[in-house]
Amino acid sequence: MVDRVILALLLQPDACAARPARGPVTCHRTAMIELRALAPDELRLAAEIDVTEDGTVVLEQRGTTLRSRQEEWHRPPRDAAAWREFEARWRGFVPASGVALGAFEGTRLVGIATLRRAIRPGLDQLEALFVDRAHRRRGVATALVAGIEALARSGGARLLYVSATPSQSAVGFYESRGFASTIEPIPELLEHEPDDIHMTLAL
Ligand SMILES: CC(C)(COP(=O)(O)OP(=O)(O)OC[C@H]1O[C@@H](n2cnc3c(N)ncnc32)[C@H](O)[C@@H]1OP(=O)(O)O)[C@@H](O)C(=O)NCCC(=O)NCCS
Repeated sequence: MVDRVILALLLQPDACAARPARGPVTCHRTAMIELRALAPDELRLAAEIDVTEDGTVVLEQRGTTLRSRQEEWHRPPRDAAAWREFEARWRGFVPASGVALGAFEGTRLVGIATLRRAIRPGLDQLEALFVDRAHRRRGVATALVAGIEALARSGGARLLYVSATPSQSAVGFYESRGFASTIEPIPELLEHEPDDIHMTLAL
């Protein structure tokens, strides 16, 4: 179990600039984000996260090489049935053989990352990562994944595996943490998500 961690994350300057100046206090430049492990009953809170995203580039993995192609894409909101599927899957390994870390702004869950332990000897999987659209580019995923890495390391894992959405944001984020495309994708994960970018991080 990780201790509760309170983080003061910097708001993007434009988030302040976008607010009209009214009165002496126009914008809080920091947001308090609390990071903590979620109890199984809290996993349903993930349905509050806006996962929508738009992009113009799709990445493709060939061995360890990534190619990009221009293609407009849009990820629609996830409906209640889709979130129930996620919750059911997470309940299958949290807390028996994994952890779900949540990032809260007040009582609202604005990000989640899940860890499945020992899917191979010495290898844990970063199974899911979502940050609410309005809270991106403020370090929420960085804080969540740093927590996941620490948990994996303290459990004895030497490698962390992720099957990443083939978007610049997801892959750009994982590269920013030191993940790299793997030459040895895990067969069942590759079969399940053949279009993803399969990446690992040495812990
Ligand atoms: C990918 C995602 C989790 C990143 O979350 P985030 O909280 O915005 O990430 P951070 O603010 O911690 O970003 C850290 C670094 O990652 C990289 N990064 C993040 N978003 C990026 C983007 N859109 N394009 C390129 N690089 C990006 C940058 O290097 C960034 O540092 P910077 O902001 O100082 O430039 C978020 O965009 C998201 O939830 N997307 C939708 C769901 C998804 O794709 N999940 C991953 C599934 S495997």
